[in-house]
Amino acid sequence: MSENFLTVEDLHAGYGAARVLHGVSLTVGQGEICAILGPNGAGKTTTLRALSGGVRARGTIRLDGTDLAGRSPDAVARHGVAHVPEGRGTFMPLTVEENLRLGAYLRRDKAAAESDLERVYGHFPVLAERRGQAAGSLSGGEQQMLAIGRALMLRPRLLLLDEPSLGLAPLVTRELFGIVQAVNEEERTTVIVVEQNAHLALGIAHQAHVLESGRIVLSGPAEQIRADEQVVKSYLGYRV
Ligand SMILES: Nc1ncnc2c1ncn2[C@@H]1O[C@H](COP(=O)(O)OP(=O)(O)OP(=O)(O)O)[C@@H](O)[C@H]1O
Ligand SMILES: [Mg+2]
Repeated sequence: MSENFLTVEDLHAGYGAARVLHGVSLTVGQGEICAILGPNGAGKTTTLRALSGGVRARGTIRLDGTDLAGRSPDAVARHGVAHVPEGRGTFMPLTVEENLRLGAYLRRDKAAAESDLERVYGHFPVLAERRGQAAGSLSGGEQQMLAIGRALMLRPRLLLLDEPSLGLAPLVTRELFGIVQAVNEEERTTVIVVEQNAHLALGIAHQAHVLESGRIVLSGPAEQIRADEQVVKSYLGYRV
């Protein structure tokens, strides 16, 4: 396990004149799940967008030795970063399988992509059952599974998940987090998950960071942060 698979240093980003990230630094080890927590508007989504090239960022983003800062989303994706945005971004009129195949569009090894389709169906059996159905006919939980499945078709080295539990029932959310954990364990995929549900995220994460007003205010092993309930409560404004 290499210590610093991902190194983010002094990241600044924003939208036009609005500065949102004011020097975010964090590291993620290879094969780890990293949780980013924080109140609304803290800059969690902006952090993921900066990492995947969706917003212009200043600072260092080094993935396994390659500097990704300032690169386009396509270039970052070619380096193995898959971003599942808030709101999921699946193509509703297309079938489940068509959506999954779109996830592999950047890949040149088409034969391997074909076997990855079965691998993704292995993680998400419900998607295999619904492979011929329009994505728009799926439940919210199934659509989130499809969005993650599509990202896995890139065979990512780094998977970025933005609020995967948004709008989902607790049981569905738990199932989804269980699958993310299984993918991490079985495929050694490094994951950064942004989550409102701190309890769930800390339950599967190795490391966690609390972001507030565009700055990291607390970092540590997930279990330690989970144990320090008062501290987390004071930052997040609710119990873990
Ligand atoms: N496209 C945009 N244009 C301008 N400002 C934006 C844009 N997206 C986000 N912001 C602003 O940037 C700040 C951080 O937003 P961001 O979405 O990163 O926060 P967040 O931590 O993901 O919040 P939430 O928990 O609500 O998802 C907020 O003040 C927000 O209003
Ligand atoms: Mg957000």
